[in-house]
Amino acid sequence: METWHCAFLLIIISLLVSISSSFRVNDDFNDLQGPYCERIGCCQNRKDTCSQPVMGTLCYCDDFCNRTEVHDCCPDYWSYCWGLEITTPLPPSTTRHPPAETKSCLFKNTVYGIQQVIKDNCRTCKCVNNGFQIPPEMLCDTHVCLIENEIVDGVNAQGHGWIATNYSKFWGETLERGLQYRLGTLQPQKDVMRMNPVKRYYDPESLPLSFDSNTRWPRYIVGIQDQQWCGSSWAISTAAVASDRYGIISKGLEEVQLSAQNLLSCLPRGGGCNGGRLDRAWTFVKKYGIVDEQCFPYTGNNFTTCSVRRSGPLRAAGCTPPKYSERTERYKVGPVYRLGNETDIMYEILKSGPVQATIKVYHDFFSYRGGIYRRTDLSSPHLQGYHSVRIVGWGQEMTSRGLQKYWKVANSWGTDWGEDGYFRILRGTNESEIESFVLAVWSEVDRRILIKS
Ligand SMILES: *[C@@H]1O[C@H](CO)[C@@H](O)[C@H](O)[C@H]1NC(C)=O
Ligand SMILES: *[C@@H]1O[C@H](CO)[C@@H](O)[C@H](O)[C@H]1NC(C)=O
Ligand SMILES: *[C@@H]1O[C@H](CO)[C@@H](O)[C@H](O)[C@H]1NC(C)=O
Ligand SMILES: *[C@@H]1O[C@H](CO)[C@@H](O)[C@H](O)[C@H]1NC(C)=O
Ligand SMILES: *[C@@H]1O[C@H](CO)[C@@H](O)[C@H](O)[C@H]1NC(C)=O
Repeated sequence: METWHCAFLLIIISLLVSISSSFRVNDDFNDLQGPYCERIGCCQNRKDTCSQPVMGTLCYCDDFCNRTEVHDCCPDYWSYCWGLEITTPLPPSTTRHPPAETKSCLFKNTVYGIQQVIKDNCRTCKCVNNGFQIPPEMLCDTHVCLIENEIVDGVNAQGHGWIATNYSKFWGETLERGLQYRLGTLQPQKDVMRMNPVKRYYDPESLPLSFDSNTRWPRYIVGIQDQQWCGSSWAISTAAVASDRYGIISKGLEEVQLSAQNLLSCLPRGGGCNGGRLDRAWTFVKKYGIVDEQCFPYTGNNFTTCSVRRSGPLRAAGCTPPKYSERTERYKVGPVYRLGNETDIMYEILKSGPVQATIKVYHDFFSYRGGIYRRTDLSSPHLQGYHSVRIVGWGQEMTSRGLQKYWKVANSWGTDWGEDGYFRILRGTNESEIESFVLAVWSEVDRRILIKS
């Protein structure tokens, strides 16, 4: 009994320090001795007189003292009234909130005054007084937020083969804004979708079980970018696939990172940060060519004007030609081609490097932290958008769901997202439509270089 009291006193004293700013406390601790409920008995339901003074306020021994939002039970309530060994009673609050006359809203364990406006994730909430008899309450707008606890917790609890997290850069933003400014690829038009996949001749059995462009061509694969709040995945993935292939085809003699901003700012009616079409992006690179990142760096906004004009030699655009090449013209590509199925995509990556894919992004994808992604039913099927990304490799992994095949894909949301900026997604099942519109091109490496190499 002695040690119990001692431990209890220590807890109360430490609580006192933390709460002393919120209300006045008696200087003497005599009323901490108890007994409380033992003296007055235990009461059913709510009975405000079923109380004892403690630390300058009142504690209670009625059923009502055990509420989820406020605990004002006396220290011996649990042991005396219920025979339970709970030794950490919470501090009693100064006043009991009468149900009908409060002048504040209790919302997620915090009290807010009438008319007070707060931000709860992406939602704006206000404490409003509904009328005389009804207690005030917090009313929030109905925005769907980019990060929702239900999704993060749901994904992690249900074991979908991947884990979710809260990203501070997405917290407080709406899903609508995420779909508009974190993606940015318009759905391919019907005639583009009808484009015939190329025929490839290879033995599917000969393909390796796993492959990663980053390991095969470590120097030529461009790093993860962050598109920021600009729907530019159409431009970023296009520039990145062309860059990778320049390095690979030239065996490093034309190792370059091409400018996504060049596409974003210079494509006539290109769509800018509001999203663009891949076929138009590729047609532009094929026809006019683009400059390198250094010459026209990414700003991620609409208002960056096209500082390199549409076409012309590199020097005329104010750019420096690459070190090892005799290149004078902008970087161009050949005609874009489409890959038809899983093994065709694998063969293409193995032989020529990363490819461009378009995925349908659902709500839960924004919270992806790691593992092999598959869409969960926690996302509404009605809220989604198209996004283009770069498939750099594939593999398979033993998981709780058995052996799972995946694609390794570069995203453009910075390296702090996903697996160092990459994500893995189920392969062979057209997950999120990733296998339905996969494109590749041949980069037009300087001819003199090709002869040399
Ligand atoms: C106190 O409240 C909690 C949460 O509402 C509940 O789980 C628990 O059973 C209650 N205890 C008693 C003794 O009523
Ligand atoms: C998510 O992260 C933000 C910023 O770091 C933080 O303010 C917020 O409380 C976090 N949300 C959850 C549910 O942890
Ligand atoms: C994909 O198509 C090629 C023909 O282009 C075929 O040889 C191969 O078996 C197909 N692979 C799959 C997984 O269907
Ligand atoms: C880009 O411009 C459009 C209008 O043309 C505007 O709606 C959008 O907010 C701008 N986006 C950014 C990121 O500046
Ligand atoms: C992938 O799924 C989409 C939507 O269901 C469909 O239109 C497309 O043809 C599929 N692609 C492949 C390669 O199965």
